[in-house]
Amino acid sequence: MSDKAQLILEGKTYEFATLEGSEKEKAIDINNLRDASGYITIDSGYKNTGATKSAITFLDGEEGILRYRGYSIEDLAEQATFLEVAYLLIYGELPTQAQYDDFENKIRRHTLVNEDMRKIFEGFPVNAHPMGVLSSLVSAMSAFYPDSYDQNAPDKTEDHIIRLLAKMPTIATWSFKKSQGHPVNYPKNDLDYCSNFLNMMFALPVEEYKPDPVVAKALNKLLILHADHEQNCSTSTVRLVGSSKANIYSSISAGICALWGPLHGGANQEVIEMLEEIKADGGDVAKYVDMAKNAKTTGFRLFGFGHRVYKNFDPRARIIKKAADDVLSTLGINDPVLEIAKGLEEAALHDEYFVSRKLYPNVDFYSGIIYRALGIPTNMFTVMFALGRLPGWIAQWKEMRANKEPIGRPRQIYTGAPLRDFVPMNAR
Ligand code: ACO
Repeated sequence: MSDKAQLILEGKTYEFATLEGSEKEKAIDINNLRDASGYITIDSGYKNTGATKSAITFLDGEEGILRYRGYSIEDLAEQATFLEVAYLLIYGELPTQAQYDDFENKIRRHTLVNEDMRKIFEGFPVNAHPMGVLSSLVSAMSAFYPDSYDQNAPDKTEDHIIRLLAKMPTIATWSFKKSQGHPVNYPKNDLDYCSNFLNMMFALPVEEYKPDPVVAKALNKLLILHADHEQNCSTSTVRLVGSSKANIYSSISAGICALWGPLHGGANQEVIEMLEEIKADGGDVAKYVDMAKNAKTTGFRLFGFGHRVYKNFDPRARIIKKAADDVLSTLGINDPVLEIAKGLEEAALHDEYFVSRKLYPNVDFYSGIIYRALGIPTNMFTVMFALGRLPGWIAQWKEMRANKEPIGRPRQIYTGAPLRDFVPMNAR
């Protein structure tokens, strides 16, 4: 692209190169702005700031498009397995059968977690939030694989990638088991990725448990839908932490913490709690729509509505809404909160407040309803999101390293006190 951007400041004109992505997104390259002009840009919430160039995920918020490595989310959710998508995100291409078998086999053979990790886990209180436990234990993995932070050790990134994908589901199930007072389950390597997770979650030593293929299929779809979403809050966190050359376990652990927030992945837990509250309050959807419209005074937002990037619809929400209907009817579950959710969506989509602000249901709006139908407790919903997002975080971390990106270090405009004389304690 040959166009130059011009900026006139204090009577001087500065020129900046522009660039265009493979899907025609445009950017102004301001790399030399401060050196040339003394100015920086302020962009709170990074609404206009591109932090990187990335070849992993494309999304168009106006058109409601989401693609991983060029493949549409609709095709992937319908036809792929989660590990196929993980491979695609991390290595750039869909695997051949031989590549897939090798990848899956390696993951199967690394599902067991060091017993000393269990001892760390046992120190957590029984009601510890599973996200806090997960981020701590993923960070602790670096201690068990010290070559992950030894800058002089040969690069073992590929081993760490396999370990993360293999062990995070195992660790994730521990919190649930503890909350139930049940023993944790060891992985069973003859099961596929999703069935193995279900087995570790729900099997008991006293009876036979067979993972339901309907449930495993639904889980596979949900994980795919969450697998990447370009430079969102948690992914940017992973890249930023990793840019200091912090190891992959610490970087992913930081991403888990960022995801936990209720404005990000934590929204899926908030949605179900909100729907339950509406149900307990008599199911008066209009009352809650009104409260959300007066968010400035009530402080109430409709969780699962709105998105920083999608301003038309969230393609993941469409797929999930249909999946929620399918899963509940196949499993013969009649969940009254599904009806409340649909009523809320219907009311909000026709309300001027939501329409004018382009507020649509996001991925988190219906995912909790499916998780609940699958038997996953509410405080584990964001953990499920983290399991899905893991390959995306890994792919983005790997890309950031491969591109040799510099350490992330934003600037600021200082608004504090000017230089003043130190006042001794007895004179204050
Ligand atoms: N309910 C009611 N009003 C809302 C909502 C909502 N869920 N979301 C945004 N608004 C209103 C805001 O009050 C604001 O109104 P105003 O223009 O009158 O001041 C306007 O819409 C724009 O909202 P912002 O907060 O500026 O939008 P932003 O892009 O910064 O935030 C976000 C996006 C954080 C997702 C927001 O819509 C929100 O808080 N949603 C609820 C939480 C949620 O579901 N998060 C999950 C996001 S998806 C994900 O992370 C996987």
